[in-house]
Amino acid sequence: MLTINDNFLRLAPSYLFSDIARKVADYRGANPDAQVISMGIGDVSRPLCDASVDAMLKAVEEMRHAHTFHGYGPEQGYAFLRQAIADNDYTARGIDINADEIFISDGAKSDTGNIVDIFAATTKVALTDPVYPVYFDSNIMAGRSRSSIEFMPVNEANGFIPDMPLSEPDIIYLCYPNNPTGTVLTRHQLAAWVDYALEHKSLILFDAAYEAYITSSDIPRSIYEIPGARKCAIEFRSFSKTAGFTGLRCGFTVVPHDVVGYDHHGDKVQLHSLWLRRQTTKFNGASYPVQRAAEAIYTPEGKQQIRQTIHYYLENAATLRLSLIDSGLTVYGGTDSPYLWVKTPKGLSSWDFFELLLHQADVVVTPGVGFGNAGEGYVRLTAFASHENTAIAARRITDLLK
Ligand code: MLT
Repeated sequence: MLTINDNFLRLAPSYLFSDIARKVADYRGANPDAQVISMGIGDVSRPLCDASVDAMLKAVEEMRHAHTFHGYGPEQGYAFLRQAIADNDYTARGIDINADEIFISDGAKSDTGNIVDIFAATTKVALTDPVYPVYFDSNIMAGRSRSSIEFMPVNEANGFIPDMPLSEPDIIYLCYPNNPTGTVLTRHQLAAWVDYALEHKSLILFDAAYEAYITSSDIPRSIYEIPGARKCAIEFRSFSKTAGFTGLRCGFTVVPHDVVGYDHHGDKVQLHSLWLRRQTTKFNGASYPVQRAAEAIYTPEGKQQIRQTIHYYLENAATLRLSLIDSGLTVYGGTDSPYLWVKTPKGLSSWDFFELLLHQADVVVTPGVGFGNAGEGYVRLTAFASHENTAIAARRITDLLK
């Protein structure tokens, strides 16, 4: 008899965005003429930038010829991309991160989910509530008990900044700019977390997938801007929302040589060596053409082109914010982030407001409660639609709430 990993039975029956996709498919099936606009899952709508497409075409052409063909690449990524990231995202900003501390992957979702492989199931974890569901689900799949996971609520009362944990966790997940609330931490606020982690020997798993949307100068784009973070933080980045790679798949994880864990004798072990071991065993790298496409966003043209697209989405966020606030809604986020966290009107539940917007406005949002209990009474909207669809959706919501 085959025994399953019954930790999977401790999860909600399906992943949040699969649930929503099914509800939307049912609605479209029943209403084939409805012009449904999606502001649910954070999927981008603008095409790849020319620099990436040109680089990929060139790379594909190389794959056609024996003398330029590429087979297996290094599991941790090609040196050309790791160096471009180190130079542009870190060294150019005065941050001490080396190319060999960067691991290329197929996106931050995989890495934030897979990182649990290198920690004991007995480690204590702290997560915000609401939270990106991957962090919680992957810990449950790995056998972590519910009682060893502390939820740190973020809400209006604390300005969406979690209070320091009570349980002295070994691992703290932070995502800023935040998914789902769209809120940010200042340099000063993030420094308090780094100090906490250093003092308590905790590890911060810092998800910076949305850093490209930061426009304010006092908001850190990397946790390594904070002194001491090299000793206590792993950072996850993604090209999905930075350069439209949601369908192409590429991201990276930074594991500094200074971050350590302890074996059962209490001896220090570099997390870098464990992650390298994990990746070389279970991962064969992002494809060569995709890594060339990612490298191209660090060229002068690439930088300029992706900046335009990010600006486009930030304009959407501003349009949505203004219009929802005008309709009397309370809105958070949407300034240094592509996400808006919107309080439901008249005390509606998240799912009731989701259904109302789907059925009466043909607009898809994400129910806040899907990200955790503290998300009840909110929905999340994304700024990733086209300008046209964003304006139409904003108008439909305003009309509905009149
Ligand atoms: C989201 O909508 O929260 C994100 O798109 C999910 C992801 O990046 O995996």
